[in-house]
Amino acid sequence: MNSAEIAKADKDLIWHPFTPLINPFEHIPVKSAKGAKLFTHDGQTIIDAVSSWWVNIHGHANEHIANAIHKQALELEHVIFAGFTHEPAVKLAKNLMTILPDNYSKIFFSDNGSTSIEVALKMAFQYWYNQDQSHKTKIIALDGAYHGDTFGSMSVSERSGFTRPFFPFLFDIETLDFPTEENFEKVLAHFDELTKDEACAAFIFEPLVQGAGGMRMYTPDMLQQLVALAQSRGVICIADEVMTGWGRTGTTFACDQIEANPDITCISKGITGGALPLGITACNGKIESAFQSDELSKALLHGHSYTGNPMICAAANASFEIFASAECKANIQRINLSHQRFVEKLESVDKVENIRLRGTIVAFDLKGFGETGYDSDARKKIYPYFLERGILIRPLGNVIYLLPPYVITDEELNQIYAAILKFLKDN
Ligand SMILES: Cc1ncc(COP(=O)(O)O)c(C=O)c1O
Repeated sequence: MNSAEIAKADKDLIWHPFTPLINPFEHIPVKSAKGAKLFTHDGQTIIDAVSSWWVNIHGHANEHIANAIHKQALELEHVIFAGFTHEPAVKLAKNLMTILPDNYSKIFFSDNGSTSIEVALKMAFQYWYNQDQSHKTKIIALDGAYHGDTFGSMSVSERSGFTRPFFPFLFDIETLDFPTEENFEKVLAHFDELTKDEACAAFIFEPLVQGAGGMRMYTPDMLQQLVALAQSRGVICIADEVMTGWGRTGTTFACDQIEANPDITCISKGITGGALPLGITACNGKIESAFQSDELSKALLHGHSYTGNPMICAAANASFEIFASAECKANIQRINLSHQRFVEKLESVDKVENIRLRGTIVAFDLKGFGETGYDSDARKKIYPYFLERGILIRPLGNVIYLLPPYVITDEELNQIYAAILKFLKDN
């Protein structure tokens, strides 16, 4: 098919995520990709500055991952994961245990970030239920949170235009203001009240960086105080590391930057290097102990058809090997240093405020671009501007951020920085 035929069939048949069915943009047919670059059917090269929804940590079409999938597909492509197991899953569980906190004891497989959250919520609720404490039903979440698009994950996320049609179906939660230097004392006092409540079951958070909420950042010290207080009251702490995992914030997990360990960690996105979808919900021995029973009623009765798929596990194991390499670690540092130099340049630009940097994520707010929502004019202007210049940036309202694959070259980074500085100069 040529580019026009693909675009036409796409328009006729395909319902894309987060996109009105009538919209002025055509979805761009991508033919292939390599490293940080996408190649379109029309011959355009686009630098993927956001790792395609934050998943392609090792860049696109990575050979090591592709070969691992190929080999596994010829040996065992899939098998039911209840009553059966296989080496790729066991190997992945062992790999994950080497990077998760020492007190972690179990790995639960699902399909994506949202399902990893659903599983975490079910684990937390049932942890209390199994111990005859079913009055513990309250979840605390941060203002501005995004934990996914399934009903449980929507319930613990910010109520917004994205979820408005479903408000009647979402369960109530307690919301804590997003912590800042200015409000932290008040936030901590409010958290103190909330966690004293006998009904409080769990606290869920995106550690250090709220992704879809606008790449908002808070400090390890604040997170440490919140987690320590919650755990001192027995409240289960669920770290949503779906975006922050795999080195994004400079350490393997963002929670590696605090002393306390969350009770449950949700992992997805970068886990397979972006090759195949996978969600992991990992928990410590405390959570596991409430499920240690031979009664079916005390088991976590949750599963998906593709749970623990061997090809996906093989992809994750291959991605893990790359992540463990000195080269990958050096790339994460290189990107951070490069972002630091970019930040120095941004600091003198009038139209920029709230510049923030953590690990490989750099973000800033645009001043004076009107409305700041997802559907804002700023976004409608910025997205096509950069695409026309061969750069994929998806602003969150008036927030421009970069979250590149770790294999991005210095030259590609400099091209992106230069385009942003030119945009700021010309607009
Ligand atoms: C922090 C966080 N949690 C959960 C999710 C949901 O993941 P998925 O889109 O794979 O369902 C996302 C997706 O962006 C996320 O950023």
